[in-house]
Amino acid sequence: MAGLFYGACGCGIDQEAVFTGKMERETIFSDILGKIETGVIVLDQMNRRIFFRNRQADKIWEFIRATFDYEELSAMMFNELGQIKNADVMCSDRSRINCDHRSFAYRVCHIEGTAQYVAVIIDDVTDQNRLEAIDEASEMMNNISNVFSGIRHEIGNPLNSMKMALTVLKMNLEKFSKEEIKVYMDRMTDDAAKMESLLKSFKNFNMFEKPNTVRVDLAIFFKSLTQLLGADVRKKRINISIDILPEGRWVTVDTRALQHVAMNILANALDAVNGVKNPTLKIRGEAVGEKVFLSIIDNGCGMPDELIKNAFKPFFTTKLHGTGLGLVISKKMLGQMNCDINVQSEKGVGTTITLTMPKAKTPQSDKIGSEVVYHQ
Ligand SMILES: Nc1ncnc2c1ncn2[C@@H]1O[C@H](COP(=O)(O)OP(=O)(O)OP(=O)(O)O)[C@@H](O)[C@H]1O
Ligand SMILES: [Mg+2]
Repeated sequence: MAGLFYGACGCGIDQEAVFTGKMERETIFSDILGKIETGVIVLDQMNRRIFFRNRQADKIWEFIRATFDYEELSAMMFNELGQIKNADVMCSDRSRINCDHRSFAYRVCHIEGTAQYVAVIIDDVTDQNRLEAIDEASEMMNNISNVFSGIRHEIGNPLNSMKMALTVLKMNLEKFSKEEIKVYMDRMTDDAAKMESLLKSFKNFNMFEKPNTVRVDLAIFFKSLTQLLGADVRKKRINISIDILPEGRWVTVDTRALQHVAMNILANALDAVNGVKNPTLKIRGEAVGEKVFLSIIDNGCGMPDELIKNAFKPFFTTKLHGTGLGLVISKKMLGQMNCDINVQSEKGVGTTITLTMPKAKTPQSDKIGSEVVYHQ
């Protein structure tokens, strides 16, 4: 391990003590690295050799049945090594290797102060994966039973109402005037439309199964999207502001899917600010590392904790004419584009919905652009 752990410069101090201190530190760190459950491999990129590997890395490699060879290892980690060529990226994304019913997750990271060495950090995530799979399966069972009771309710209600209307009509066909018959016919048409709109929502669920991700300018995207809301926003006198920092402006997403998601969230926000004093909607974007965080903030009715927990369950709605599928479908679409959604809310104060999206490179032509602030 010599040379891997650097101490502060001991200029003018007792050199022997410094040397002993260094040795002590190296022994301690080597001992810890030997005992931890995480595999650590250090690659020397200049001399194309494996500089260090701990015991756990050896164990994992036995499972993977790969030879401990620099060329083989760097070929295996070609993508991750490529990612950290960018000096701004400290660690690559986590990748997985599955072997013999076991699963390993690894990342390649820069080591501070040296470009020659990089570290490969590898963990056995088999047990964690199993727990997650059990969790997902039980969540799915819950969701499926919610879906069935939702469908029963959503289709059952208009269906019953149609049946009733038909029975009344059948019994009174001779007695009823044309106008009375039309009232019943209209009611049945409405019921059929309700069922149709539910089936349309299901179609959306499988839309964009294979997203077509491209580089999107969030500032322009939200400017045109909020203009679409124009009439509704003006009528309700909602103050909308868009504030996207230059670093958080470009993301990699499917435009149509993002449009669908953003419309759902904006529609919810508009519903939430209904009747509040000085209704306000803020759209804010900023970048942290390789991610862009886009928040849609409203000062509407807000949600108590129990409601936040239920908001992503299929068919959960507090609205008279809601389907309760808006957020469920949005979450699914976001997941397909490597994006995520997070809700923070306080009853009576407002709601912040934050979308996390992969950051895209800023085009050269845009680098001089300053902060984008837009008020409607
Ligand atoms: N910004 C918000 N402020 C307050 N409550 C919200 C907000 N967004 C969502 N909710 C709550 O979460 C519930 C679920 O939202 P979701 O968009 O999934 O369905 P919905 O809006 O009820 O129906 P649909 O989207 O079909 O019109 C809503 O009924 C509402 O109670
Ligand atoms: Mg909604």
